[in-house]
Amino acid sequence: MIAPCIDIHGHFFPARSPDFRRRFGEASGPWVTLHDHGDGTGMMMLGEEPFRPVHSSLWDPKARVADLDRSAVTLQLICATPVMFAYGAPPEQAAHVAATYNDLALEFAHASGGRIRALCQVPLQDVDLACRELTRAMRAGCVGVQIGNHVGPREMDDADTVRFLAHCAHEGAAVLVHPWDMLGGERLGRWMAAWTVAMPAETQWGIMTMILGGAFDRLPRDLRICFAHGGGSFPYLLGRLENAWHRRGDVVRGASKHPPSQYLDRFSVDSAVFDPRALRLLIDTMGHERIMVGSDAPFPLGEADIGQLVREQPDLAAEARAAMLRRNAEKFFNLE
Ligand code: CO
Repeated sequence: MIAPCIDIHGHFFPARSPDFRRRFGEASGPWVTLHDHGDGTGMMMLGEEPFRPVHSSLWDPKARVADLDRSAVTLQLICATPVMFAYGAPPEQAAHVAATYNDLALEFAHASGGRIRALCQVPLQDVDLACRELTRAMRAGCVGVQIGNHVGPREMDDADTVRFLAHCAHEGAAVLVHPWDMLGGERLGRWMAAWTVAMPAETQWGIMTMILGGAFDRLPRDLRICFAHGGGSFPYLLGRLENAWHRRGDVVRGASKHPPSQYLDRFSVDSAVFDPRALRLLIDTMGHERIMVGSDAPFPLGEADIGQLVREQPDLAAEARAAMLRRNAEKFFNLE
C-alpha cells in the first residue's frame, strides 16, 4: 500500500463558468472560459485565444477524485488557475469575480465527499476589498487563500499587500503564493520557458522582495505563508543572494534587518521540484518541517503520481517523510 498524502497545490476551473466578458466587457479582460469538447478533454480559452489544453478532472469533481484515488491522496486543496485572478480588472469587478469563483470552488469541494477543500482568491489590487472577501470566503468554508506573487508593479513588500498579509495572519488564514504574469515576455516565448525559467524566477523574486523589502520584519511571526514550486529558484540561489547581502550590503540589504538565510523559518514551500537531488537541497535548506506535497495537478506539468517524489526520496527518516506527506499540511492549514 502506498502512503497516503495531502496535496496542497491543485487547480480547478468551474464547469459552469460565468460569462464575465458579457457582464463586464472585453476591456477589463481578457476573461477565461472553458470549451468542453465532451470527450473528457477541453480547452481553456483566454479571450478568443486557446490558452491551455486540459482534461475533465480540472472541472469535474468526480474525475478529480478518481485521480486522487490513483495516487492515494486523501485530501487535495484546490485553488484558482492564476488567469482567473482578474488583478487587472477594476476592483469592484475583481471582487465580484473572486466571490463567484470562490463559491464555485466551494461547490467543487462539496461535491468531492470530503476529499477536496478550497483556497480562495481575492481582488488583491484593492486591499480593503481583498480583506473583506478573505474574511467572507474563510467563513464560507475555504481553508486559506492563494495569491499571485505580484499585482503589476506592486511586489510582495508593497504596503497594501503587507497589510493584506497581516489581515490573513489576524484571521488565521494560511497563504499560498503562486507565480503568475511571468517576466521575460516575448523573449521567453519558446519551449514553455515561461514555465521552466520565468515561473521559478518569479517565485524567487517574490521571496526576495519579502525579505529585502522588510515585509517579514513588518509581519507577525504567526503568518503562515507558502511559496509554490519548491520556492522556485530561491533555495538553489540562496548562497548567491547571501554573498551579495554581505559583500554589497550598500545596495542589496534594502530594508532587511538580517541576512536572507535568517528568514527561512518564516515561510514554507511545496515539493513540486521533480528531482530527488532538488528535493534533497530543499530539505537541507528549508528543513523537512517546511515542505508540503504540492502537485500542480491536474495540469500537464504537474506531478503525475502525486506525492511520488516525497514517497521515494532516498535517505529520509520515516518521521520526516510522514511530515512532508501529511502532518505539515494538517498543521499549516489547520486541517485537523
Ligand atoms: Co500551480
